[in-house]
Amino acid sequence: MIQKQQLYLLNRADEACNLLRLHIEKGHVVRIISHNDADGLTSAGIFANAIKKAGGKFHITILPRLRDSNVKELNKSRYKLFIFSDMGSGNLESISKLKGDVIIADHHQVPEGVNPEIQVDNKEIIHVNPHIFNIDGTKEVSGSGLSYLSVHGYEYYELAGLALTGAYGDMQFKNGPQGINKLILDEGVANNTLVMKNELKLAYANTQTLDKSITYTYTPIINGLSGDLEKTRIFLEEHDIPKDKLLHQLSPEEYETLKNELISINEDIYGKIYTIPNIRNELTNIEEYSNLLNACGKNKEYTAAISIQMGKYQQMEYAKSLLSKYGSTMQNGIEWIKREGSIEKENIQYIYTEDKEQKKIAAAVSSIGIDLGLLPDKPILSLMKMDNLIKVSSRTTDNMIEKGVNLGVIMNQASNNFNGSGGGHNIAAGATIPANQKDNFIHLVDEMVEYQIKK
Ligand code: C5P
Ligand code: C5P
Ligand code: C5P
Ligand code: ZN
Repeated sequence: MIQKQQLYLLNRADEACNLLRLHIEKGHVVRIISHNDADGLTSAGIFANAIKKAGGKFHITILPRLRDSNVKELNKSRYKLFIFSDMGSGNLESISKLKGDVIIADHHQVPEGVNPEIQVDNKEIIHVNPHIFNIDGTKEVSGSGLSYLSVHGYEYYELAGLALTGAYGDMQFKNGPQGINKLILDEGVANNTLVMKNELKLAYANTQTLDKSITYTYTPIINGLSGDLEKTRIFLEEHDIPKDKLLHQLSPEEYETLKNELISINEDIYGKIYTIPNIRNELTNIEEYSNLLNACGKNKEYTAAISIQMGKYQQMEYAKSLLSKYGSTMQNGIEWIKREGSIEKENIQYIYTEDKEQKKIAAAVSSIGIDLGLLPDKPILSLMKMDNLIKVSSRTTDNMIEKGVNLGVIMNQASNNFNGSGGGHNIAAGATIPANQKDNFIHLVDEMVEYQIKK
């Protein structure tokens, strides 16, 4: 059953689709600006596929973060329709000054005090954001889902797989697909463009040998094995399971042994996986697809990420090598956390790095570190030095959200205080601040978390 709030969001997305159709019919090149993670890349991939199928043209730019200066830059070109996906809701003011129609398909919180329903004379701005309709944009729909809804009028149900791949990448499936994500799943299943099956939920299962596949699995955590290649190899040897086969290459006996042993460590390791049928093996599992895209994104290989989604596979082997490296970098990151832990304050904790490889995975391992019990359950900041700026990523848990923590609000307000910028979700948010304000920023965030919890 579709709820009333969901219907309002679907109607808003239909308005976006009508606007898109109008511009495609006029032959306008659609300007797409999207985020560099799996969610943002699939958002761009969905719009690109839909526009191509509808006979239109597009031009994509992928960005790690959207700054007002990026938006201003766009005004130098003469595009008639701009699409912002998985970003934009934090930059409404500068977007309203663009000379052209706009679609924003974003699930980030709109900063406090800003009216999300912007209206400007002489042009259309269609803001497709779940928060406007009181829908949880952290759990129930991601940028890719909103992009899917925004091209829904074309009935390209084969894009449902990309919609869920992005949502998976944003970790919206911790308790299975919910809300709008569930609606998209049901539509995909009904149209045979998505298939659910019961399987071991191992990461990278179609591209990495079992020892690595098990080691690189963090959702769910396999106690003693996640993040520990040596222990995983000993475990496999003890049970006579070959470490250098892929999961599907195991004999039925080997598979049964592995399944039972892993279930005895964590029963959640066996359950529903979501797959895209009739696609290359490496892309069939949406978890692996999202990791592949994240790996491309972290290495700024955006062309590879988009062309793979368009069914062009020239860069597939290269993307797979990035995926493999991403897994080992993440594992090194877990070793780093095991070795050095975090620096604890009263209500928060932080890690700091200047290392290029560590910067790619700091946010992810800070969150996995809490899940693994290596770090306490307090909001965590990852501070990454970039010349005279510091890039901040913050992560927390459902438990802290229930206590009142909202990192999106804190990153936005605390960074503004030091002439920086920031925003995001309650559970995961980011900011950029001047490097010389590091300690003041940490102190302020610590106090703001205390305030949110006490309130
Ligand atoms: O930029 P974007 O919205 O796509 O990213 C969402 C971020 O929130 C991701 O980094 C994702 O891992 C994080 N997240 C999280 N825990 C959740 C849900 C999302 O850390 N439960
Ligand atoms: O930076 P971000 O929060 O997006 O990193 C999230 C990524 O880290 C996920 O896509 C996933 O690969 C991994 N992760 C995980 N389990 C967690 C936290 C992160 O698998 N608890
Ligand atoms: O960069 P990072 O993965 O830590 O960002 C976490 C979340 O906060 C993402 O959803 C990102 O899009 C969002 N964010 C934001 N504004 C910023 C920085 C991050 O909305 N300035
Ligand atoms: Zn997103």
